[in-house]
Amino acid sequence: MPDFEFVLALVSRWLHILAAITAVGGTIFARAVVFPTLAPLPDEERARLHAALRERWATIVKAAIGFLLVSGLYNFMVTATQSRVPSWYHMVFGIKFLLALAIFAIASLLIGKSPAAQAVRSRAPLWLNLNIALAVAVVCLSGVLRTAEKTPKPPAVEPIEIPAPN
Ligand code: HEM
Repeated sequence: MPDFEFVLALVSRWLHILAAITAVGGTIFARAVVFPTLAPLPDEERARLHAALRERWATIVKAAIGFLLVSGLYNFMVTATQSRVPSWYHMVFGIKFLLALAIFAIASLLIGKSPAAQAVRSRAPLWLNLNIALAVAVVCLSGVLRTAEKTPKPPAVEPIEIPAPN
């Protein structure tokens, strides 16, 4: 029977992939389908529809960010504590993590209500393009991380006491 840690790592991986495809797919859908479809509508109708769509999408974005952070940090912790990885692994992970934080910040502004969020939203297609480009980079870097050879760390050796010679 698989042990608890194995199942937890598998569930965490599933959640990570599901949250990533939902967030990235939704962003591409918004840019390629929603915005061009809303563009020709009269201002008032477009603003009403945009607000309604944004409210529903906001719930999904918040959940996706939460799942990505929790599952991603858990996956990283398991890898870092249990396996030996090549020296480049941590650098690539660091870049991926920073790019992911930038994506989360832009996505949060696109769904937010603050004046800063409104300024970002007034040029939403541009910011969506940037987030899609960043997400492609993050997925590519994740693929690179996946190729890293991970060898289990040997168990810690208990120090043995050598009796002093008489
Ligand atoms: C936009 C956000 C993100 C996207 C699109 C994304 C996407 C992915 C994808 C596609 C994988 C490969 C899954 C697999 O083959 O098992 C992956 C793996 C991983 N992700 Fe993310 N991720 C994101 C954010 C994060 C964050 C915020 C963290 C850390 C806090 C993180 C940590 C990891 C780790 C540790 C792995 C495993 C890498 C390995 O195979 O060694 N990810 N991610």
